Formats: sequence, structure tokens, C-alpha cells
Amino acid sequence: MTVPDPTRPPITRVAVLIPTYNERDNLPRIVARVRDAVPAADVVVLDDNSPDGTGEVADSLAERDPQVHVLHRAGKEGLGAAYLAGFRWALDRGYDAVVEMDADGSHRPEDLPRLLDAAADADLVIGSRYVRGGTVVNWPLSRKAISMGGNLYIRAILGMPVNDATAGYRVYRAETLEAIGLDQIESAGYVFQTDLTVRTVRAGMTVVEVPITFVEREVGESKMDGDVVKESMRRITGWGVDHRRRQVGSLLHRERTWHRL
Ligand code: GDD
Ligand code: MN
Repeated sequence: MTVPDPTRPPITRVAVLIPTYNERDNLPRIVARVRDAVPAADVVVLDDNSPDGTGEVADSLAERDPQVHVLHRAGKEGLGAAYLAGFRWALDRGYDAVVEMDADGSHRPEDLPRLLDAAADADLVIGSRYVRGGTVVNWPLSRKAISMGGNLYIRAILGMPVNDATAGYRVYRAETLEAIGLDQIESAGYVFQTDLTVRTVRAGMTVVEVPITFVEREVGESKMDGDVVKESMRRITGWGVDHRRRQVGSLLHRERTWHRL
């Protein structure tokens, strides 16, 4: 059981952000599941002007339910850009916590109460596939290899104590988002998730991983592509170089201080 930290404010207002690009058939179902699982939470659809008409589907859901909102974006600018716009929208409106969730059913809304409970005592909660009790259902071996390999690479070169740093099912406290410098984020694709994990850890904040079952989508297609993977490799390697430089820097500093004694 988590004992709530009295220094952390209670979470009452929750915004569940759902980014969409061509998710027309998935959206009504996921929104209904979120509304059932956490009735007090508001849902915010972040649509990048999907050619399949997801934006109109979102509008019609919002018309029927005052707890559903839609942010229409001009075009496909990537997962990171959509989330940044959503974070600013939620922070401007005074939400206590912001949830990231995929539209395709891979992140089960029924797991959200557990993630929110954990946020009572954490700055960031990650719905994790790679801790005991977490798992992935229906991924081909190739995708598993990319995801697990990516996480191994991240742990090895960044020395981060997080098992699923690329995960997309998360709860951020508003204070966390305010502390990690959203204005400096350049990551456009899925590496955005890793970027925010690195920032949160480096800010000295508490990251808690809660096991989830990630179920591969049954409808529509993944938007993961070569550009997403290439951007991830490039940025993560860059952060790794920074990390080593910082380590060497602090070693040299220690040496110099030692000689002066
Ligand atoms: N607005 C917007 N713009 N939404 C996008 C974009 C974009 O450019 N690209 C993807 N999305 C939305 C999709 O419509 C979906 O709701 C969600 O982002 C995840 O996209 P998928 O394409 O289904 O991702 P995945 O299943 O391959 O990847 C999952 O694993 C990654 C690696 O662990 C996700 O959970 C990612 O968040 C995660 O980083
Ligand atoms: Mn997916």
C-alpha cells in the first residue's frame, strides 16, 4: 500500500490526454472505457487533422459529453508536439494530474485507477511492461526486440533506473510538468516519452513503475516508422554523450578539489 506523501497535494482534477492520428474506429470505444473507469476524469483528444475524420468523431463525442474536449491541430507534427499542446492546455486549466494514453486500446483504461493511486506518492507514474507483473500481448518478435533493445540501450548509456523508459501510459503531476522545462523539448516522435523520463529523473523527481498489460491494437495501424526509430537513436545517443561528459566533468572536479586540499 502506498502511504500518501502529505507534502504532495491531493489529486482531484485529472485530464486524460489521448493523441490521435487516424483512429476513427478506436476513439469512441476508448473514450467510453475511460469515462467508465474513472468517471471524474476529463478526456482531451489531441487530433492532428486525421485524414480519416477522427477529428469529427471526437467533436461528436464532445458534443454529447461535457467532460470530453478536443484539440484540433493543423497537421501531423508527431506525438511529442501533440502532447506538448495538451500539457499546456491542461496546465492552463488547473488540472492536478495529466494522463497519457494511446487511443488504440493498448493502454487499458481499467488499469488507470491503479496508476492514479500510485501518483499519490510519485511525481511520475509509468504503466510499465518491463517490471514484474507487466507484459505485452500480441507483439511480433521484431517489435518486442526494438522496444526491449531500446530500453536496454537507454539503461546502459544513460544509467537510468527505469525499466520502461519509452512507455506511453503515464500519470504526471502538474508540478512535475512545470518543473521539467517543457519549453526546451525538441523531441517530435515517440522519443518524446524517453525525453520526459530523462528530464524527470534528472530533476531528482520520483518515478514509480506500475505493471501493466500492453495489448497490441486490433484495429488500425501503428504509426511507428523508420523516422521514429532514427530520431530515437540519434537523440538517445546524444543524451548518452552528455551524460558521460557530465560524469567525466564531475570526476575532474573531484580531482582538482583533492589536489587543492
Ligand atoms: N496527434 C498525433 N500525432 N497522434 C499520434 C501521432 C501524431 O503524429 N503519432 C501517433 N499518434 C497516436 C496514435 O494515434 C495512437 O493513439 C498513439 O499515438 C500511439 O501510436 P501507435 O502508432 O499505436 O504506437 P505504438 O503502439 O506503435 O507504440 C506504443 O509504444 C511506444 C513505444 O513503447 C505507444 O505506447 C508509444 O507511446 C510508445 O512510445
Ligand atoms: Mn499502438
